Amino acid sequence: MSFIIKDVDAFQVFDSRGIPTIEVVIGLSGGAEGRFIVPSGKSTGMYEALELRDGGKELGGKTVHKAISNILNEIAPAITGMDARGQAALDKVMIDLDGTPNKTRLGANAILGCSAAACWAAANQEGVPLYKHIRDLAVTRGGSGEIGMPEIMAQMFGGGAHAEDSVDVQCYSVRPIGFKSGEAAYIACLEVWLKEQEIYQELGRPLSFADEGGLWPTDFENNEEGLKLMVEAMKRAGFVPWENMGITLDIASSEFYDEETGTYKLRYDKKELTSDEMVDYLADWVEKYPIVSIEDGCAENDWEGQIALTKRLGDKIQLIGDDAFTTNLGRLKKGVELGALNAILIKMNQIGSMTETIDTILYAQEHGYNPVVSGRSGDCEDVTQIHLAVGTNSYQLKIGGVCRSERVVKWNEIIRIEHSEAWKNR
Ligand code: PGA
Ligand code: ZN
Repeated sequence: MSFIIKDVDAFQVFDSRGIPTIEVVIGLSGGAEGRFIVPSGKSTGMYEALELRDGGKELGGKTVHKAISNILNEIAPAITGMDARGQAALDKVMIDLDGTPNKTRLGANAILGCSAAACWAAANQEGVPLYKHIRDLAVTRGGSGEIGMPEIMAQMFGGGAHAEDSVDVQCYSVRPIGFKSGEAAYIACLEVWLKEQEIYQELGRPLSFADEGGLWPTDFENNEEGLKLMVEAMKRAGFVPWENMGITLDIASSEFYDEETGTYKLRYDKKELTSDEMVDYLADWVEKYPIVSIEDGCAENDWEGQIALTKRLGDKIQLIGDDAFTTNLGRLKKGVELGALNAILIKMNQIGSMTETIDTILYAQEHGYNPVVSGRSGDCEDVTQIHLAVGTNSYQLKIGGVCRSERVVKWNEIIRIEHSEAWKNR
């Protein structure tokens, strides 16, 4: 009885960019409560489930009153009285109620808010860390039941859509290799970060920050300069590129791909590249720099490019599909069939429910695609992504920069988990 959903509340709160989003609070008859704030992206893939916003004049049309009203008037009556432990049944009720392939009627933000808040409520009622509850959910979906602390990457420079009028590449991150804990790996990223700021100061560049907390790429000569600065900072911090520190890039190339001409318009480099040339461009960087992972090297609709990229670099480095897969099982299956890429970015709000997210992670793992659980450019004081990564034993975590509260709250959660008795006795 105690796991029965008793009340569902939802209201508008704000993300790290000051943009409206939804917080959902679900109360159970046993007295426990779960809450979740829905994250939001800026460089969204065209195949993401719909984030329902109001349009109109208030706050640039970004308000979420309609989605909240959908929660209060449609979802709440449908899920009240259900068992919060039955995540798959709960998510199915909401998906059926929505009745569209992309959650366009009720909004993926409305559905995910309720899905994840129920997940937290069930874990809280049970009195276990969320990652344990997610592990149990994953087992009911065919998972192995293994948990694990993911490897990490941390953003040093944020460009593209996260820093208007700067470089084309969206995210330059460091990737600690072979550290004994998440905490140790995070501290290593902070050491590089300090050197990155030192270099900026020597160059007379302002310490301003992009959406995900990385440095704004001010006055970069070209897209490649970010790579040079990363290697310099790593070395100054005492790390050995390739050996204990690598670079991961999110090219987010759908943002500058021209569908009509089939070309990549690298505005900052004054280059217009065909798909094959784009692959060459990236392969050249992989030769010269300690790059261990590239995300969205080719655009979401450029499957030929993805395949060519995989043939060229798939044996050497991790190739992640973000816009290409949008955490969508159907798109991942297509990628697996075509032999495109070898890893998938996991963003809960791209698909809009916990069950679908977990199913995509499990399918990826079964087919040798590393799941990389990710935050979004519009994030908040929520730590669900950490528990999702740990509870599904996902390979890696991408939550943006090392500073700013909406990022640090997640890094601190890693440290908190690693210091807990539950973790030590796992
Ligand atoms: P977004 O960026 O949250 O703005 O989509 C993150 C990413 O592209 O990985
Ligand atoms: Zn991305």
